[in-house]
Amino acid sequence: MSNEQIQQKVEALLAQMTLEEKAAQMVQVPYTVAGREESLRWARLGAGSFLHVLGDDAREVQQTALKESRLGIPVIFGIDAIHGHGLNQDAAIFPSQLACACSWDPAVAEEMGRVTAREVATDGLHWTFSPVCCLGRDTRWGRIDETFGEDPYLSGEMTYGIVRGYQGDSLDAPDSILACAKHYIGYGEAVGARDAVDTQMTYRKMKEVFVPPFQRAVDAGCATFMTAYGSIDGTPFTADPKTMKTILRDEMGFDGFVVTDWNNCQSLLTQQFVAADIGEASILSAEAGNDMMMTTLDFYDAAIRAVREGRLDEKVLDDAVRHILTVKFRMDLFGKPEKAGIPGCIGCEEHRQAAYRAGQRSITLLKNNGALPLRDVKKVAVIGQNADDIQSQYGDWTYLTHPNSETARPPRRPYVTVKEGFEQLCEAHGAQCVYHHGCAVRPLPPEVIAMIEGPVLADPVAENIRQQSMRRMPPRDDIPGAVAAAKDADAIVLVVGDTIDQHGEYKDRGNLDLSGEQMALYRALRALNIPLTVVLVSSKPLCIGEIAETADAVIVAFNGGQYGGLAVAEAAFGVFNPSGRLPITFPAHSGQLPVYYNSLPGWHGGRYMDLPRTPVYAFGEGMGYAPFSYANLVFDAAALTASVDVTNAGDVPGTEVVQVYMHDLVASVIRPVKQLIAFTRVDLAPGETKTVTFRLRREDFSLVNREEKRIVEPGEFDLFIGHSSRDEDLLRTRFAL
Ligand code: BGC
Repeated sequence: MSNEQIQQKVEALLAQMTLEEKAAQMVQVPYTVAGREESLRWARLGAGSFLHVLGDDAREVQQTALKESRLGIPVIFGIDAIHGHGLNQDAAIFPSQLACACSWDPAVAEEMGRVTAREVATDGLHWTFSPVCCLGRDTRWGRIDETFGEDPYLSGEMTYGIVRGYQGDSLDAPDSILACAKHYIGYGEAVGARDAVDTQMTYRKMKEVFVPPFQRAVDAGCATFMTAYGSIDGTPFTADPKTMKTILRDEMGFDGFVVTDWNNCQSLLTQQFVAADIGEASILSAEAGNDMMMTTLDFYDAAIRAVREGRLDEKVLDDAVRHILTVKFRMDLFGKPEKAGIPGCIGCEEHRQAAYRAGQRSITLLKNNGALPLRDVKKVAVIGQNADDIQSQYGDWTYLTHPNSETARPPRRPYVTVKEGFEQLCEAHGAQCVYHHGCAVRPLPPEVIAMIEGPVLADPVAENIRQQSMRRMPPRDDIPGAVAAAKDADAIVLVVGDTIDQHGEYKDRGNLDLSGEQMALYRALRALNIPLTVVLVSSKPLCIGEIAETADAVIVAFNGGQYGGLAVAEAAFGVFNPSGRLPITFPAHSGQLPVYYNSLPGWHGGRYMDLPRTPVYAFGEGMGYAPFSYANLVFDAAALTASVDVTNAGDVPGTEVVQVYMHDLVASVIRPVKQLIAFTRVDLAPGETKTVTFRLRREDFSLVNREEKRIVEPGEFDLFIGHSSRDEDLLRTRFAL
């Protein structure tokens, strides 16, 4: 259908809709909260969308809407399928967005999006609340794992890839789903990285730093946006027409529909106190440009009343409904209300292979003094709770963390933990593999343990929680046991990290040191003087300065998905040559935060007197088993082409991620000390040299000026090309534009 035909259909349908039906179309019902009966009632009223409902329950809602609502407008179902269709127990589970970003490869994101779309569509659903385009600049934030890291450009390229993957070539394809760029905007920039509080933001900063990844979502055709919980200079984003209309629609060119985040409309009243009642909150939300209200069911009555009382123009509702219906027609929902998907594809071999490849590509080797790859080992000791904890390996937003029912669901095979990966690889290499958990990643206080292990509780809810906690009891610390298991090994692999209880919504951390006795465990194992590799299975960078200094090798896996553990073992044994690079900085200390490479220059050293200036690992860092060297940086300023010779100086094939940064020497606003503007992956055989050429654009050197306009200011620039964001890894040339 052409755009004109769609618009005609939208107008014809809108003309038939009553005020009530328009208000209902703007409501998104949380199935798990509302329950079945209430959800079906909303379907009859003509609610526009439902979230968190799968399979037959979703089908029942859809059939009710089609057959029992007056106009039979199909509903769209949204779900948080953010690294695979993870809330479905059978789905292929991919690495988290952060882990995926370590690939520095939009094609990996695209494949993850494609597989997810097929699986979500096969469940009859239409829409994933993904990707997260927020930047992860202050790693105390609980949702760092959901981001593509700290950099606007890398995050934008990965966003572009994943949105293309979700939406495919056409929204009406049986296996395409709607993407949702979230959380627009600045969610990660909350003060002190405290989830969902006030945001450190101005419009200029917003446009320069935070809009670019969202702009790439728009460029990729992203059909929906979700708003953020935060605020700008005292105005909640939910109530800010400049953010939602002027910037998003007029400047960025977005033409889909906007959904609020969880209860944002109601929160204007209950959390942010800028509305006296739900009527005011509904008027503010609708007028600001929120087309659909996630979970604020009271919006329905309030909006109807506000229109009847003349406090809200019905045209505001018309616009919102237009946006929603346009997307529904573009999806051909009226012809095919249920996505067909690809029957039988959920968790199929092909999809699991894609998750496996993504897991390999996310492995980032940060240090290696020759301990890796493992060779001629007779016995490998794998130590650490996270070496054998599938929930930690999966991370957030899977059926293990967001169960639909009261009882936690047991992990479903196939998956491979780090321990199991080493068992497989050791067997193949004729080596013995021993495992010991060593200590709890996050030990519970003694009184909590006593309660969990105590007598049955009278209150059924408390008893249910007790039983669930019992199933998830962290192991008891036993460092001597781990030392005994490891003492005659040829190599030790210690897995450290965090657990699902230490990240996610409401779970920001002020202290990113390794929790529990993990450092004591490390030191005890280090004292054995056996080659020691430390692996991080975590949601985010943690403070591992001492480990970075004294371990023999360091691998970052983050939340690597169902085969993340196998990928770690294969990387360690050199089955493949790891090529991940950090999309985010590793701080030396929690007190250093926020720390990111593209900071603004300032006086007085820009450091705390009692902390180092530099991070432990910088943005862009990562190595493989072959070193790369750079030479002959040539830049043609007229053509804006840069080339450089990259050589694999090692004896195994390897992949280098060639990174291009720029710095604007003098500008009307303060520019970052360095800004990534391009990158590419290059495969190199041992000894091979390739000339890598980048075609840059003038916009790559642009800034957002004080009038909030993106412009290119003439002047001198430095161009850097090399291996990471560290100065010592970069060749530099200066030119005038
Ligand atoms: C989160 C969103 C998510 C939504 C629906 C909110 O609490 O902030 O990221 O998409 O819930 O589950």
